[in-house]
Amino acid sequence: MTHLLEVAGVSKAFGGNQVLSSVSFNVVKGEILGLLGPNGSGKSTLLNTISGFTRPDGGSITFNGRPIARMASHRIIQTGIARTFQLPVMPEKMSVMEVVMAAGTRQHGLINGLLGLASGRKAEQEDKARASELLDTLLLTKVKDLPAAALSGGQKKLLGIACALMGNPALLMLDEPMAGVHPQLRQELVETLVRLSQQGISLLVIEHDMHFINTLCQRCIVLDRGQIVASCRPDELAENQQVLDAYLGRSTATLQEAV
Ligand SMILES: Nc1ncnc2c1ncn2[C@@H]1O[C@H](COP(=O)(O)OP(=O)(O)O)[C@@H](O)[C@H]1O
Ligand SMILES: [Mg+2]
Repeated sequence: MTHLLEVAGVSKAFGGNQVLSSVSFNVVKGEILGLLGPNGSGKSTLLNTISGFTRPDGGSITFNGRPIARMASHRIIQTGIARTFQLPVMPEKMSVMEVVMAAGTRQHGLINGLLGLASGRKAEQEDKARASELLDTLLLTKVKDLPAAALSGGQKKLLGIACALMGNPALLMLDEPMAGVHPQLRQELVETLVRLSQQGISLLVIEHDMHFINTLCQRCIVLDRGQIVASCRPDELAENQQVLDAYLGRSTATLQEAV
């Protein structure tokens, strides 16, 4: 088995709050791995450390054999890791199409424009075609000229995924992609993610929706108070005592609702 991502002994504290305690897990190439855990267990912080938005206090993170724990977030994106945010914020004055275009990592704008280079124009054309294709895939074509800030919460999530995909990542990390997405769109989103997986993109997905987890994920890891307490198949979650203990007595016992 080839490990695309290796997280080993990662810790992070904010002040006296130990949010991640020696977290270790791998993402296997091609898999869809679910990341579960009650609210406040450290899931988003873990994504932040992998994507370089938060620097871990200790431990190592290796992607495609390359250490990335000390890299800046824009360099990490260039290595092939993309992510979305739990609560995406969109610029007021850019259209949906402009936001996706701006997420393209290639520099075809200023310098090539000044030099009038054909290669720059070609890259821009290719990015436009790619952006249109992604907006289509994520069902955003009909709102492509609207201000991005005017979209619904669910549509902003889809736009976040389109932006993440502009860099052609090998690993896509999604922070609660289903939350706020209209029920009619959810099945389409699941199908889109399956298609991405079939195209060879590995996925690490934070999600509470058990239908989503059961349909999509081959394996799940469960965080409880900053520690990994389980790594199992989705159908094994309901019988895993440590998983049940993690959710027991929490106000957001979403796993229990499903078991
Ligand atoms: N930038 C930050 N500064 C201080 N505390 C933070 C920061 N980010 C997260 N935390 C704390 O880390 C804990 C875990 O948060 P989070 O990773 O968002 O959990 P989850 O995504 O599992 O709900 C919470 O107690 C939260 O308040
Ligand atoms: Mg979170």
